Amino acid sequence: MSKTAIISGASSGIGAATARKFIELGYSVVNIARRESPVDGVINVGADLSTEEGASYAAAQAAENISPGGTVALVHNASLMLKDSVHDCSNVDLMRVLAVNVGAVNTLNRELLPCMSAGSSVIYVGSTLSEKAVAGAHSYVISKHAQLGQMRATCQDLMGSQIHTAMICPGFTDTEMLKQHLGGDAELMHEIGSQNGFGRLVTPEEIAGAITWAHQSPVINGSVIHANLGQIER
Ligand SMILES: NC(=O)c1ccc[n+]([C@@H]2O[C@H](COP(=O)([O-])OP(=O)(O)OC[C@H]3O[C@@H](n4cnc5c(N)ncnc54)[C@H](OP(=O)(O)O)[C@@H]3O)[C@@H](O)[C@H]2O)c1
Repeated sequence: MSKTAIISGASSGIGAATARKFIELGYSVVNIARRESPVDGVINVGADLSTEEGASYAAAQAAENISPGGTVALVHNASLMLKDSVHDCSNVDLMRVLAVNVGAVNTLNRELLPCMSAGSSVIYVGSTLSEKAVAGAHSYVISKHAQLGQMRATCQDLMGSQIHTAMICPGFTDTEMLKQHLGGDAELMHEIGSQNGFGRLVTPEEIAGAITWAHQSPVINGSVIHANLGQIER
């Protein structure tokens, strides 16, 4: 039986590491992003997930790589993170973030689930900020909380389908998104990495391992999995 992984944002960071892992496991892998994946063998669907048309186009292209009866790992990983706060978050920026982080997920689910058979999964890449907030990431925190609701609602709507879902919530992970958010400050990156039980940043490969495991583990249907090396709470 054919096995396909459809990963949004497999052009960098956690998505690229996840694409590599699924390729190693013998899956056909589709990357949905504006840039191509650096991983050999990945099928690239160039699309901008900030518009309904872009997400719909991506779903149609990705669906062409699903064989009837084959299983699919649909991994919602692409994300937009802006720096904003309750004082300055404009509705335009909020809607821009929600379009990528929530709207595109909704479109991909609606349009790809009809092609997905028993044994498939819908895996959400959330964040520690799906369950708590920090200052300075207002729209992102809202969108990540919304994704958690999306995962739980997905679970309820798919009862009996033999398709499971789960959310992996990474802690601080060594990727471009984190670097950008910290303004490229290497010292701050290091300091942030020390805020967990292992005193280092999570690697994209560790999150990729959690994602592939979640896909292969229907018993965790509906679960929120923390993947942060154990955060030190203050
Ligand atoms: N790094 C962390 O510390 C951390 C912590 C918690 C959660 N996360 C979550 O982990 C996931 C992956 O992030 P990352 O850290 O690996 O960041 P990253 O390396 O910056 O990757 C982000 C991905 O999202 C894609 N993307 C963004 N906007 C898009 C758009 N409009 N259309 C299509 N694709 C778009 C990018 O692709 P293109 O630019 O090629 O379009 C890129 O592949 C995200 O959901 C993020 O919220 C990360």
